[in-house]
Amino acid sequence: MRTRRDNSSLIVQVPAKINLSLRILGRRDDGFHDLETLMVSVRMYDTIRFEIQESPLVQMTSTSLLPNEKPLPNDDRNLIIQAAQLLQRTTWTHSGAIIKLLKRIPSEAGMGGGSSDAAATLVALNQLWGLNLSQEKLHQLAASLGSDLNFFLDSNVAAICTGRGEIVTPVSVKRPLHFVIVKPQSGLSTADVFKHWTAHSSPETPHQDEILKAIESGGLSQISRLVTNSLQGSARNLSREIEKSLELLDQHDIVVSGMTGSGSACFGLCRSRKSANRLARKIQSLGGIQSWAVTSGV
Ligand code: C5P
Repeated sequence: MRTRRDNSSLIVQVPAKINLSLRILGRRDDGFHDLETLMVSVRMYDTIRFEIQESPLVQMTSTSLLPNEKPLPNDDRNLIIQAAQLLQRTTWTHSGAIIKLLKRIPSEAGMGGGSSDAAATLVALNQLWGLNLSQEKLHQLAASLGSDLNFFLDSNVAAICTGRGEIVTPVSVKRPLHFVIVKPQSGLSTADVFKHWTAHSSPETPHQDEILKAIESGGLSQISRLVTNSLQGSARNLSREIEKSLELLDQHDIVVSGMTGSGSACFGLCRSRKSANRLARKIQSLGGIQSWAVTSGV
């Protein structure tokens, strides 16, 4: 995430993520799943403006720049409000905030928009409210709000995430990776996709040492072999649009296609920024399908 001050406000550019690989190791007693996933931050950003308020009220508004998106709740069903309230409860601060969210990351897409927004809220309000919570404490709060927030907290370009997803081991990527994203009209609920996962619907997925070797080599063909997702079978059963999106991508000159997180967004790894841009424009021109070119980065 990138933060800048504007008088009494903080403005944060909040990135999205792609799961290049996602392997489910098994179901846990707490209802979550243990996983091992390679997450890559990508330069598709929500923008959030945080303005301090003397009263302890936290209020938010959101505007989406995407067509066909359901309006987001602006109350405590939104992770941004949950993150702000958690900070208030933890520190007993009497400060409040007015929060304005400009949404560019599609929801229910497996691109981590909600988690990234909430991680940015922890970082921004810690600063704006002068709370001085350590990064370690922020990680603890992040993990209590969801499984993907920890990845975004330290602004790593890429990391292997384990546990529920909250244990983050940064990895270095040798070269920028260029993707084209295809987002079907309908989204998928993460909880639903995990619920329908079965061990036999999972493909063979690479192990951590293979991931490290491939990502650190920077070679596109090595990286392409990492692209697998244990949740793809379950997501495909819930939405026929996943199959169609992957087929559409595979008809073009890409290195490999895959689904990110619990879907419904799919991605194609491209050989260059130029070819990603060209393909995104072509898919967009077909009408009815949203498509973007994005590059790895924070
Ligand atoms: O943690 P997060 O809020 O992103 O998870 C949403 C839902 O996805 C959880 O309530 C759970 O049903 C499922 N999930 C899971 N195992 C994980 C992460 C999420 O079962 N590792």
